[in-house]
Amino acid sequence: MARRPLVARSVPALRKVVARYRAKGETVALVPTMGALHDGHLSLVRAARKRASRVIVSIFVNPAQFAPTEDFKTYPRTFAADLAMLAELKVDLIWAPTLAAMYPDGFSTKIAPGGPALAGLEDKFRPHFFGGVTTVVSKLFLQAAPDFAMFGEKDYQQLKVVTRMARDLDLPLRVIGVPTVREKDGLAMSSRNAYLSPAERKIAPALYRALKDTANAIKSGTSVRDAVAEGRDTIERAAFTLDYFEARHAETLEPIQAAKDGPIRLLVAARIGTTRLIDNIRV
Ligand code: PAJ
Repeated sequence: MARRPLVARSVPALRKVVARYRAKGETVALVPTMGALHDGHLSLVRAARKRASRVIVSIFVNPAQFAPTEDFKTYPRTFAADLAMLAELKVDLIWAPTLAAMYPDGFSTKIAPGGPALAGLEDKFRPHFFGGVTTVVSKLFLQAAPDFAMFGEKDYQQLKVVTRMARDLDLPLRVIGVPTVREKDGLAMSSRNAYLSPAERKIAPALYRALKDTANAIKSGTSVRDAVAEGRDTIERAAFTLDYFEARHAETLEPIQAAKDGPIRLLVAARIGTTRLIDNIRV
């Protein structure tokens, strides 16, 4: 069995360990997560390992990014299994703050992100989401003071929002995007896939297939409008309820009319039963 990584539960405990790394001139990469780890998270850890001599993984299910109607209470919590996986990968430190360490009594400050956070994608359906994400991520950055922070392309708008925030606030670190890890049938790995019934799980890869077909259609000359309309149809025919299926500029996330104005990113969010899935690909 691999050695159990250190677990810090309070900011002073975390800072003490990070200060030891710094005293030795070591570099630090942070992988922020909400736990319920899968191979997607682990590929972020491997990418972190390539960048820095020390890897910190944070595990914190952040209440501030869930609406009261969402799944904060039922979000999968699998700390022991997470720890075992991270031990295998020889992660140096787990930052698992308690709720009181992250949001002490009287906590009342919030980041209000603009730009890509107001693109009309996730923000339209989860208006509270990016404020909650950027507030906790800025805290994680200030707590762990990493040189690098790894984020998955799976949550593409989140990656762009965090990158923008780091630039806007002159945060002294580099945000690194890591490609999406998929199941064999193309479904993007997600902690929320655990909610899918066997029947829903069979339908779920239709999302990625529609993204790929749409990207191929655009690449072979179909207009963005027609290709996206076809993609929307395919997803709805597969019994999903569509939140959005959009072609956006890959950097600004602004709407895009023609391939020549690209690079284009296709982004989708759709619900099946009670589960909401998101995915995206480059064209
Ligand atoms: P969580 O959903 O746990 O995801 C943690 C990180 O793993 C994110 O950067 C996410 O994009 C990445 N990730 C998830 N599935 C992936 C996949 N299939 N392939 C590659 N990367 C994947 O995103 C969050 O947590 C939270 O919003 C957080 C940033 C931790 C702030 O609370």
